[in-house]
Amino acid sequence: MNILLLGYGKMGKEIEKVAISRGHQIAHKIDLNNVEDLHTINPTEIDVAIEFSGPEAAVANLLFCLNNNIPVVSGSTGWLDRKSEIDSICLQKKGAFFYASNYSLGVNVFFHVNRVLAKVMSRYPTYNVAIEETHHTEKKDAPSGTALTLAKDVIDHIKTKTSWVNASAHELSQLSIVSKREPQVPGTHLVKYDSQVDSIEIKHIAHSREGFALGAVVAAEWLPRKVGVFGMEDMMEF
Ligand SMILES: NC(=O)c1ccc[n+]([C@@H]2O[C@H](COP(=O)([O-])OP(=O)(O)OC[C@H]3O[C@@H](n4cnc5c(N)ncnc54)[C@H](O)[C@@H]3O)[C@@H](O)[C@H]2O)c1
Repeated sequence: MNILLLGYGKMGKEIEKVAISRGHQIAHKIDLNNVEDLHTINPTEIDVAIEFSGPEAAVANLLFCLNNNIPVVSGSTGWLDRKSEIDSICLQKKGAFFYASNYSLGVNVFFHVNRVLAKVMSRYPTYNVAIEETHHTEKKDAPSGTALTLAKDVIDHIKTKTSWVNASAHELSQLSIVSKREPQVPGTHLVKYDSQVDSIEIKHIAHSREGFALGAVVAAEWLPRKVGVFGMEDMMEF
């Protein structure tokens, strides 16, 4: 495939490596230094665009793709207050738009397993559930966005849990999310169900950013020739 890269920062560079290793060509790379080149592109030569240009640039880049009939895979965060507008434009123009706030295939499998496990465990109230996440010391936010998605899905199923706290919970109605920050550790998420007789744990460990890039390229391979607005659940067919 001929890929248009919109955003050539940390993610754009990782996506380029993965795309080339899977036999694709990068037709154009657009970043802050050459934004004007976007208007010299022949859209008919592009099979799909992958957009990781960040919160300020995302909407304009997505509109460019939809107005030029280019299927687009987007991973930028921080612009989602305008997602319903972009979804409508895509549907109006019979275009193809794919969005995920987390492209890691493994994390999305983990989210699915977490939902299935929570549904099963909702029948066994003798187990108490808790979440733990460990990241490198440079990570500023806590809990991680991934831990928050896990927590939301647990709370949706386990009726004894009505809210989360970013600490060890003192009340049964609170779901503990314990955040640990340690030097040079891989990002790790653990969901643990504990009873007096045993424990059940599911764990995801991220080895690098490459997981996000791989998921975005796999989505770009999946999207062309489809019409509509899509996300990871559509592609991974849970
Ligand atoms: N969905 C996911 O799985 C996932 C994973 C990692 C990062 N992200 C998100 O992806 C975005 C990019 O992350 P990053 O780490 O690569 O950031 P980065 O700052 O390293 O790169 C951003 C790039 O966008 C370029 N850019 C800025 N304005 C532009 C414009 N108008 N047109 C085209 N390019 C423009 C910059 O020059 C830079 O090359 C962020 O919003 C980040 O949160 C999402």
